[in-house]
Amino acid sequence: MLKFNPHAGYEPILDEILISQDRLQTRVAELGAQISADYAGKDLILICLLRGAIMFLSDLSRNISASHMIDFMAVSSYGAGARSSSGQPRISHDVNLDIYGKHALIVEDIVDSGHTMSHVLRFLGTRQPASLKVCSLLTKPSRREIKINIDYTGFEIADKFVFGYGLDLDEYFRNLPFVGVLKKECY
Ligand code: IMP
Ligand code: MG
Repeated sequence: MLKFNPHAGYEPILDEILISQDRLQTRVAELGAQISADYAGKDLILICLLRGAIMFLSDLSRNISASHMIDFMAVSSYGAGARSSSGQPRISHDVNLDIYGKHALIVEDIVDSGHTMSHVLRFLGTRQPASLKVCSLLTKPSRREIKINIDYTGFEIADKFVFGYGLDLDEYFRNLPFVGVLKKECY
């Protein structure tokens, strides 16, 4: 269980700002430019994994000049407050668009153990998209249990629990414009 009072604000539980708003915006613009070049003229569908990737998706999409579609998928793998995966990931909301023959790009907040992404890749792969790639804002390579090929990575980070810019602490603080590290005494 995470120990914090959401109504006391984030300052008491913030160890440090790991990635500032400026660095996030600069990197997202770079990723957007790269994706725009790679997918120009192709039927691209960005598939946002709810809820952690919403901020990243909305900034990334606005930095992609190539025409594209957006859809959403939800996967549950973490119990409230849990520090690590609680068993098998489960698809709790499927995409609405048909990805058959289209170029699907999964947009995720963070790849940790890799179980969630591995599950999503297998699930979507059966629908025979023209291509299926991964764009993750963050990755914690030292925590990986399953090998995942991330095609577009925002930042590699150390094994620390982070929050903000879409990533939550028991559903709070997704709105922060930066990625911060949670103090050790809070978990
Ligand atoms: P995985 O299945 O272990 O790779 O976990 C991926 C999911 O765990 C992500 O989509 C996040 O929702 C969550 N997660 C992993 N690390 C963190 C973190 O440091 N802060 C917030 N959520 C995290
Ligand atoms: Mg998530």
